[in-house]
Amino acid sequence: MNKRITTATFRKMKQDKQKISMLTAYDYPTGKMLDSSGIDGILVGDSLGMVVLGYEDTTQVTMEDMIHHIKAVSRGVTHALVVGDMPFLSYHMGIAESVRNAGRIIQEGHVQAVKLEGGQEILEDVKAIIKAGIPVMGHLGLTPQSIHSLGGYFIQGKTAEQAQKLIQDAKALEEAGIFALVLECVPAELANLISSQLSIPTIGIGSGKGCDGQILVTHDLLGIYQGKSPRFVKRYGEIGTMIEKAVSRYIQEVKQELFPGEKQSFHVDTEMMEKLYGGGK
Ligand code: KIV
Repeated sequence: MNKRITTATFRKMKQDKQKISMLTAYDYPTGKMLDSSGIDGILVGDSLGMVVLGYEDTTQVTMEDMIHHIKAVSRGVTHALVVGDMPFLSYHMGIAESVRNAGRIIQEGHVQAVKLEGGQEILEDVKAIIKAGIPVMGHLGLTPQSIHSLGGYFIQGKTAEQAQKLIQDAKALEEAGIFALVLECVPAELANLISSQLSIPTIGIGSGKGCDGQILVTHDLLGIYQGKSPRFVKRYGEIGTMIEKAVSRYIQEVKQELFPGEKQSFHVDTEMMEKLYGGGK
């Protein structure tokens, strides 16, 4: 496979009008499979809280949860750019703490960049992390870590005032030095406008085709996650149903003594067994 994808590659892809493909991964085999499929970028997202750990929302995800999964993914990836999500409250307790946590994700997780949710309110943290030499991906629009203040998973930026704030936030983050920006659940027209006004790539999720790239949660795309998927998800597989079917067959075969068969069994010669059975007599 050719050279490793970097944050500079992402910028170049925008300049060359090449769309960027990204997906999430939370473990070693998925990281490896996405990488060998040729994905450009992998996000170890805090969505792992819901799709892997069974939490109610992403506010329950801790730094330890993230580091554990980021390490596993990065071991399986040699080509794609890997980004580690900074979890809830890991960049809200003072600038030193934000830099320390971003540093742990890079140093212990072995990824190339971190992602933070929010706009001008986290600008000083973003600047300090970038100053420490850590590339930052921004995330605006629907920011799931703020679910309790947003009041639900709704489209963002529908009023002129909200839209203005999003544009200002996007420009402020670009000026602070982020290398790419996730736009989640932003109306397609607004995402298009923001993408045209930035020189860094935008990565859309539920934000239309005008973004410079797209990202989805892999468990939604493959039909592994059995909970409700948002409307913007397109299912490219039904792996959850396949797993259930395969496991039901296994259960039936165990109960009916069809598994293990001859092919899965090992034997010794009868003479040895006779000795064992007769050994006590
Ligand atoms: O946590 C995550 O998976 C994300 C993506 C949905 C962008 O933030």
